[in-house]
Parts: sequence; C-alpha cells; structure tokens
Amino acid sequence: MGMIFETHAHYNDEAFRDDLDSIFARFPEKRIGRVVNIASDLDSIGECLDLAHRYPFMYCALGIHPSDSAPLTDELLEEIRGKLSDPRVVAVGEIGLDYYWDTPDREIQKHWFEEQLEMARQADLPVVIHSREAAQDTMRLMQDHRAEEIGGVVHCYSYSLELAKEFVKMGFFIGIGGVVTFKNARKLKEVAAGIPIDHIVLETDSPYLAPVPFRGKRNSSLYLPYVVDAIAQIKGMDPEEVISRTEENAERLYRLRS
Ligand code: NI
Repeated sequence: MGMIFETHAHYNDEAFRDDLDSIFARFPEKRIGRVVNIASDLDSIGECLDLAHRYPFMYCALGIHPSDSAPLTDELLEEIRGKLSDPRVVAVGEIGLDYYWDTPDREIQKHWFEEQLEMARQADLPVVIHSREAAQDTMRLMQDHRAEEIGGVVHCYSYSLELAKEFVKMGFFIGIGGVVTFKNARKLKEVAAGIPIDHIVLETDSPYLAPVPFRGKRNSSLYLPYVVDAIAQIKGMDPEEVISRTEENAERLYRLRS
C-alpha cells in the first residue's frame, strides 16, 4: 500500500516550534510517509539540514526564495553550494520569481533565479520552483537555462492549464496542494483534470494554504488526505491510486528509491 509523499513543507517555520513531534507522531495514522522540507531564506538553510538529519522520513531542498533573495551574495551562494552534497539534500529550492510581493527588484530576483538554476545543474539536483504572477519570465528563464535538462517541480501551481502542459512537456512536475479544495479554484481544478496523473505531486506548503475545511488555519501534512480526495474526485480515480501514483512521481522528482 502506498504512502502519501509530502513534497513541500516548511517545518522549520516558527508556527511549528511547540508541537512538531506531536504532528509527526500522527503521520502513520494519516499515512504520511516521506516529507521534503524546503528552505526559503538564509536562516532556514541550516534549520532544514538539521531537521532532515533528525528525522529519518525527512529530506530537504536548499535554496533561496525570490522574496528573500535581497541579502544573497556570491559568497553566501558558495556556502549553500557546499552543502548540496549532503545526502539528505534532494533538490535546490525554493527558487524562482515572485511578482505578487514584487520585492526585491525584479532584476535581483531574476539574477538569483538564474544563478540557482545553474547551481542545481552543476550539483545534478532537480529544482523546486516558486513562481507567482511571473509566468512569462519564469518560463523564459527556464528555457534560457534549458531547465528540461535539470528537472524539478513547479510548486503551488497557480497558472493556466495551457502553461502547465508546457511545463509537463519540459519534464516538470506540477505541485498541487490545499488550494485544489477551495470552491473558487476553478483554474487549478482544470489543471488537475487536464494534466496526466504521472506529472502531479502532492504538497502542502505548510504552515500555509490549509485545505477546506481548515482553510485559513495552520496547515500540516496531516491534511493531505483532503488533497488526495479532491484530486481523486476531479480525475475520477480511486484515492488509493492517487496516493501510490503521486508517491512514485515524487520518487522520480527527487530521485529517491521507494
Ligand atoms: Ni514553500
């Protein structure tokens, strides 16, 4: 029987400071298997590595989120690069462009996105891409850097089905989380219906984006069964099959063995 693979969480977030172990203790009951914890800013790099070493079911991705890229320097990027050979590191991320918050300056965001794409290529790791209201520039930079050779996931996917098909053509996975349960998420439901199951991975982005009926509350991987059920319903599939297929996909994405 498959286990739910959580491809994107932030358990280093202070929202989990007091009860991380009690959340993890309930993983078996909700059939949560492996988790990839994702770094975002400079402080989170060390925290994510620590967590991935402390918990045997946890891996991590190391990288700098576009909204946190202002303090990056070549020296700091070298420090991150040096940690990528750690066996618990399975990806570079999250990296990308965020024109919703739109800070720092777009040229700074683009610069560090490009640098980190090349860092992933050199380290032979996939990328976890964060892209918000920046579809065109994200696709253009990915094409410029031949991202199809690097591989990865577009996490918390928020664009059209048409563009999702382009990412899938590049071999990328589409990360789907709690938003798919929202009543007004017509576009994401179309994406879930329209792309093949073998390019979908499950994620929460915890502590953010809890699914219905917990919308607005703190999210955790424990709520992933709601995402499984939503995708199963949209695709007319058995929830068990959604769990096992997306688990296989996550193993392919992060190049892990079952
Ligand atoms: Ni995230």
